[in-house]
Amino acid sequence: MALLLWLGLSLLAFVQSSAVKNCHPGCRCEVESFGLFDSFSLTRVDCRGLGPSTTMPIPIPLDTAHLDLSSNSMGPLSDAMLAGPGYTTLVSLDLSSNHITKVSPNSLSKLRYLETLDLSYNNLESLSPSCFSGLPLAEVDLSHNTFQVFDMDVFTTKVHGEPVSVDLSYNQLMSVSMSFHGRVLHIQSLNLSTNRLSSVPKLAGLPLRYLNLDGNPITHIAKGAFTQLKDLVYLSISGLHELQEIEPHSFKGLQSLQILDLSNNPKLKTLNTAVFSGLDSLQELNLSGSGVESLPNNMLTHLPSIKSITLGRDIHCWRTQKQGQFHRQLGQVQHNEVLNCNVEGVVL
Ligand SMILES: *[C@@H]1O[C@H](CO)[C@@H](O)[C@H](O)[C@H]1NC(C)=O
Ligand SMILES: *[C@@H]1O[C@H](CO)[C@@H](O)[C@H](O)[C@H]1NC(C)=O
Repeated sequence: MALLLWLGLSLLAFVQSSAVKNCHPGCRCEVESFGLFDSFSLTRVDCRGLGPSTTMPIPIPLDTAHLDLSSNSMGPLSDAMLAGPGYTTLVSLDLSSNHITKVSPNSLSKLRYLETLDLSYNNLESLSPSCFSGLPLAEVDLSHNTFQVFDMDVFTTKVHGEPVSVDLSYNQLMSVSMSFHGRVLHIQSLNLSTNRLSSVPKLAGLPLRYLNLDGNPITHIAKGAFTQLKDLVYLSISGLHELQEIEPHSFKGLQSLQILDLSNNPKLKTLNTAVFSGLDSLQELNLSGSGVESLPNNMLTHLPSIKSITLGRDIHCWRTQKQGQFHRQLGQVQHNEVLNCNVEGVVL
C-alpha cells in the first residue's frame, strides 16, 4: 500500500521554484517535473511587466517550454528580440499587451516548436505573409488589435498540417480574404466576433468546425452564405443589433452543424421555415433575446435532429411525441412528433 502511494505521488507533477539556472532576475522560473522518477520536466518562465530599460532578448533557461513576455512595451518585433538559447524550444509564447505594431518576417522563425502564440492587446494592423511560416501553430490569439483587413494565407504552413484555432475578435475587420495558392489552410476554429463585418465573409474552403461572428454590424444573411462549410459543428451569430433578415436557405450546406446560436438579435423578428433547410444535424437552436417570438411547428421537417430550442426569455421547447395519437400505421414516426414548450402559444 505504501509503495503504491509513493508511486502515485511521484507520478504527480510538482514544482520547484528555486535553483533554475540562468533565470533573469526580473523573471520567475519554475521547473515542473513529472513522470516516474521525475523523468520529464518543463520549464515555465514568467517575465511579465519587467519595466522600461529591459533589453530584448531576455536570457531564459535552456529548454524553456512556456514563456510569458506580456506587458513589456516591446514595440515593433524585430528579428533579434526572440533569438537565443532557450527560445528554440518554446511551445507557448505570450506577447500580449506589448504595443507591438509590426512583426518582422523572421522574428518568430527560430521557434520551431511553437504551438501557442498570444499576440492579443497589441497594435497590429498587418502581418507579413511569411511570419508564421514553418511553425507548428495550434492556437493563435490576435484579438484586440487594429486589423481592418486580414489575409488568412498567413496561416498556410507547408511543414505540418495541424489544425489551428485563430482568434481575431475585437479588431476592426471589414473583410477577410484568402487565396490558397494551391495550399491548404487548416483553420479549424475562427473567432471573428466584435469586428466591423457588414456581411458574412466568404470562408469556403476552410475546414472550420467552430465559427463565431457575434457582435458584427451584419444586417442580413444571404442565401448560401455558409455553403461549403460542411465540417462546421458550432456557429454563433449572436448580439447582432442590426440583423433584420435571414434569407431562406442561408444555412444550406451546414450538414454537420449541431449548435446554432442566434440569440440577442433583437431586430430579427421572423424566420421562414426554409431558413432551416439543410440543417440535418442541428441539435440546439438558441433564439433567446431575439425578436422571434413564435415558431412554425412544421420547422421540425427541416430539423430531423433537433433536441432543444430556446427563445424569448426562458422559453424552452423540445421535440416530443404527439400525445394520445398513435397512428403509426399511417406513416413514419416523425409525423407524430411535435414541438412542446414550457409556455403555451409559442408554436404555431
Ligand atoms: C471568441 O471571442 C469572444 C470575445 O472575445 C469570446 O467570448 C469567446 O470565448 C471566443 N471564443 C473562442 C472559441 O475563442
Ligand atoms: C442562449 O443564449 C443566451 C444568451 O447568449 C445564453 O444566456 C443561454 O445560456 C443560451 N441558452 C442555451 C440553451 O444555450
